[in-house]
Amino acid sequence: MSTQCDALVIGSGIAALSYALHASRNGRKVVVVTKRDASEANTAYAQGGIASVLEPEDSFEAHIEDTLRAGAGLCRRSVVELVVREGPAAIQRLIDLGVEFDRAEGDASVEYDLTREGGHSFRRVYHAGDITGAEVMRGLLAALRGAENVEILEHHTAVDLLTVRKVEGLRTGRGHQTPAAENRCLGAYVLDDTTGQVHTFRAPVTVLATGGASKVYLYTSNPDIATGDGVAMAWRVGAEVANMEFIQFHPTCLFHPQAKSFLISEALRGEGGLLKRKDGTRFMETYHPLKELAPRDIVARAIDTELKRTGDEFVLLDMTHLDPAFLARRFPNIHETCLEFGVDMRTTPIPVVPAAHYVCGGVVTDEHGESTIPGLFAVGEVACTGLHGANRLASNSLLEGAVFGHRAATAAERYYAMTHPTATVPEWDPGSAVPSDELVVISQCWDEIRRFMWNYVGIVRSDRRLQRAQRRIATLEEEIREFYWHATVTRDLIELRNLCTVADLIVRCARQRRESRGLHYSIDYPTLEKNEPPRDTVLARRELV
Ligand code: FAD
Ligand code: SIN
Repeated sequence: MSTQCDALVIGSGIAALSYALHASRNGRKVVVVTKRDASEANTAYAQGGIASVLEPEDSFEAHIEDTLRAGAGLCRRSVVELVVREGPAAIQRLIDLGVEFDRAEGDASVEYDLTREGGHSFRRVYHAGDITGAEVMRGLLAALRGAENVEILEHHTAVDLLTVRKVEGLRTGRGHQTPAAENRCLGAYVLDDTTGQVHTFRAPVTVLATGGASKVYLYTSNPDIATGDGVAMAWRVGAEVANMEFIQFHPTCLFHPQAKSFLISEALRGEGGLLKRKDGTRFMETYHPLKELAPRDIVARAIDTELKRTGDEFVLLDMTHLDPAFLARRFPNIHETCLEFGVDMRTTPIPVVPAAHYVCGGVVTDEHGESTIPGLFAVGEVACTGLHGANRLASNSLLEGAVFGHRAATAAERYYAMTHPTATVPEWDPGSAVPSDELVVISQCWDEIRRFMWNYVGIVRSDRRLQRAQRRIATLEEEIREFYWHATVTRDLIELRNLCTVADLIVRCARQRRESRGLHYSIDYPTLEKNEPPRDTVLARRELV
């Protein structure tokens, strides 16, 4: 089956839905494909909030400086400026949709209750209790479900992107000859998870909004959808990918055998939470003058160092000195969830550990969200726009998704008026693939990747650990390739293949960086490379799949 639309949007988080909303209001026919329920996205789990300048004492300059400082010399200043300056309008669009951020109580001079997080010099984080992301999703999905020209297809997983080059390669079976200037994205092959059929979607504009890839690590704050599909798909068709070594580890996830991935928001430290060793002593003052509110990479590394030094399994986040009524009111979701696991944060310090949280690198884009392949846009966590550099400032991610989703929809308008390549796209060919009776291969490979990525490519790295990881990836790639061509395609298989590609890209980027900068820390190169100007780690695949 083949479907034609103006814009094919892959994903349904804040970036995808911001794009879809704006494009549909411009009269474009938009199809959104998303691999689980539409509401299942990293966005829905966001707790802390969205950063943007509101109060008169705060300023765009201060938000810009905080973002640049966190980014450790690798942010693109022009992108930081545009995102910060367009922030208030992005927040206003959400408010206009009916998203309800917490209002200030008892202070008539300010409308909203802004919170603070690490690395921010002001309170500038809009939030909806401690479930900001769920509230944002509610507002966006409600608006889109009423839109006439938007179709949301749930349980549809994009398998591969289609480009002029790729189609030529498929047709001739001998690679491609198309010059880069004539290459164009044509759409994607998408698996309907319910029927098992792979459909062809053709569109002059394709938008990757597939979110992050932190499931490539054993311990992560991310839900299961975060398998890096967008980066892997873009990589396979030759788009540039950059800075994949910069993986942000969130310092505080709940430590409990049954609490899968539950985040304890940085906003708790923003409101006065203290990090302590199990013996009750504080340690952050020995690592950074901002103590608990130091940038996230420093806090995560400090905890990692403490855990390795003491042999303890967790450190403590102590909130017990704060007003119990305030804690229950300000953090209802975290309070309730901790209680379910037997921790009352009003009276007992919370056991916490770091976990993989956010990928700063991704598909390289320009200031409008367009990748290096014409007609292919990448917005949100999947993209590398230059906003985050080597380390993302807390609560800048939702902001980036909202700003770039909107910007990309504006920029993409020029494609609808153009003449489009007439390349005939062949229907998906399942070849000789049959349903596999050895699905254990998928879970085995998946577990292996996540464990060696955690142990060898985690918070602290070394050349030898990276080499070990690279060798394992080479073996697994071979095994997965073989399995992929013989087994009927399923979502699990697609995700495994992508996860392995993402692991490879992270390791390749990490091996190229011979310094420690931002989120990338190597014991072999513990300082900044001082003799060279800061540079991105850019990778591009020249040969065609
Ligand atoms: P997502 O919201 O992750 O959406 C990706 C979508 O793509 C999903 O719908 C997914 O199903 C779909 N998808 C993926 N692959 C495919 C495929 N192959 N085919 C079809 N669909 C696909 N950031 C902040 O700024 N503030 C916060 O307070 C904050 N808190 C966070 C708390 C947690 C627990 C987590 C995990 C993250 C948090 N972040 C926060 C980060 C932020 O939530 C994400 O970076 C952001 O939501 C990403 O938005 P997105 O639209 O790019 O992707
Ligand atoms: C948090 O609430 O700590 C997460 C904020 C973020 O990742 O930006």
